[in-house]
Amino acid sequence: MSGIPAVYAVTAAAILWYVISTLAAWYRLRKFPGPTLAKFSYLWAYFAMRTGRNQFIMAEQQEKYGKIMRLGPNELMIYDPETLWYINGARSTYRRGGWYDSAKFDPYGHNILSEPDTVTHDKRKAKVMSGYAGKGNVNIEQKVDSQLALLVDVLRKNHLQEGDNIVDFSKLIRFFQVDLVTLVGSSEPWGDLPTETDKFDFISLADGMVPFLDSFMMVPYLRNFFASSFFLTLAGPKATDKKGMGRFMGLIKGMVEKRFGEDSTKSIEQGEQGDMLTEWIKHGLSRRECEIELAIQVPTGTETTTSGIRAIMLYLLTSPNAYRKLQEEITAGIRDGRISSPISQEQAKQLPYLQAVIYEGLRMVPPAVAGFPKKVPAGGDTICGEFVPAGTDIFVNVYTMLRNKEVFGKDADTFRPERFLVCDPAKKAELIKTVDLIFGHGRWLCPGKTLAWFELNKVFVELLRNFDFQVVNPESPWTCKAYISILIEDFWIRVTERREY
Ligand code: HEM
Repeated sequence: MSGIPAVYAVTAAAILWYVISTLAAWYRLRKFPGPTLAKFSYLWAYFAMRTGRNQFIMAEQQEKYGKIMRLGPNELMIYDPETLWYINGARSTYRRGGWYDSAKFDPYGHNILSEPDTVTHDKRKAKVMSGYAGKGNVNIEQKVDSQLALLVDVLRKNHLQEGDNIVDFSKLIRFFQVDLVTLVGSSEPWGDLPTETDKFDFISLADGMVPFLDSFMMVPYLRNFFASSFFLTLAGPKATDKKGMGRFMGLIKGMVEKRFGEDSTKSIEQGEQGDMLTEWIKHGLSRRECEIELAIQVPTGTETTTSGIRAIMLYLLTSPNAYRKLQEEITAGIRDGRISSPISQEQAKQLPYLQAVIYEGLRMVPPAVAGFPKKVPAGGDTICGEFVPAGTDIFVNVYTMLRNKEVFGKDADTFRPERFLVCDPAKKAELIKTVDLIFGHGRWLCPGKTLAWFELNKVFVELLRNFDFQVVNPESPWTCKAYISILIEDFWIRVTERREY
């Protein structure tokens, strides 16, 4: 080495290491088709995500390359529901891919969404589940009802003035959701809805992070760097910060503090109203674990259902037949006494057209379009008819799965709730089970599904029984960007009081 400066030697070694490891990764999964760049580099998936058109790009590629395609050097992507049920099943030995490590809003500890170790995940999940499921004193239905009454009130008081009755539904429903999720989580709604403001700048923080976070999650080097103690010590957020993620962490810390700190007597009384925090503490979560879990409950709970409600609303408002049929179902239900005020969860489940509209809307715009990789277990496995070596990350393409013409019919790209109604019971069950995969499956199943379904079942009935709606800009009704999750903005609607029943 004498005569060669150390810096050149190190650079040459790094380049050699990069070339050899890239070739080795390509060779390992060489039989799987996919975009050329994706076979060698994470840049393809990174840039696909950055475009904000991820769902279309992934759908186009999957159409071209088939049921199992190359997404990255160690990543494949599938859309076959059977394989997803199998991989995610309760007895499956697949575990989480490294992608999940970045799913944190408090970067200093793993929550149930980011926890890489299956046993630790399962133990923590068992403790938080009763809160999420609305057990104990957590009366989810009553909390959803109270927030919906507030939503109707805000619309009536602030947005019915003729000539001034136009509102951004995407914002309004996000305010509603933030308050609902914080109410269910800690009995302390943040107050976004009554003031129609992003009071703690959480929405701008969360939405602002999505394009960046969802993109770098596709690149192991980047996600490892941002999670490293080097980066966190140097530039990591602190609960004392006045803005950004640190401010959010401080807010959450304050909410948990009330349960564990000196002021806890009052909070325990509050807790008696029932909320997730109370249940979590009852099930043995420590103060720090409560902070970490609440810090993921808020973003996961607010972004997803909000997108679902916005999507169903847009498809309803732009499909006059469906809008009219749903209105008629609601009107008849109210007249016949089958729908109380507010509608109950059980009554909503008995409204076939409402159910079909919800499933069809979630199918058209799934709130999370792709991601959630699981790692192939030791020894490898055969999926979609191909042997896949151990350690490969299998991503799911939710968008393509729900537009699959073999499952949903030739008009899978069209909003047609009737597809869930005019088919035999076995087909209907298959369609529902497939759409249900938007919530994940098995041990990784979304625990917020209970809350989400209470809302979905009620929100359209409460809105449509009180108001009529119209899209303000039919040529471009909203801005919709897809990363891993969906970001919808500028969804302006005109609201009028509904007069006849
Ligand atoms: C329409 C609404 C929703 C959809 C489509 C949805 C979708 C998902 C998906 C796809 C996953 C990951 C599954 C996997 O890892 O394979 C997930 C996990 C999760 N969701 Fe949801 N979600 C929704 C609503 C909610 C709500 C309202 C909350 C909170 C109140 C919530 C909290 C969580 C949490 C904490 C996890 C992590 C679960 C685990 O790792 O075991 N979600 N959700």
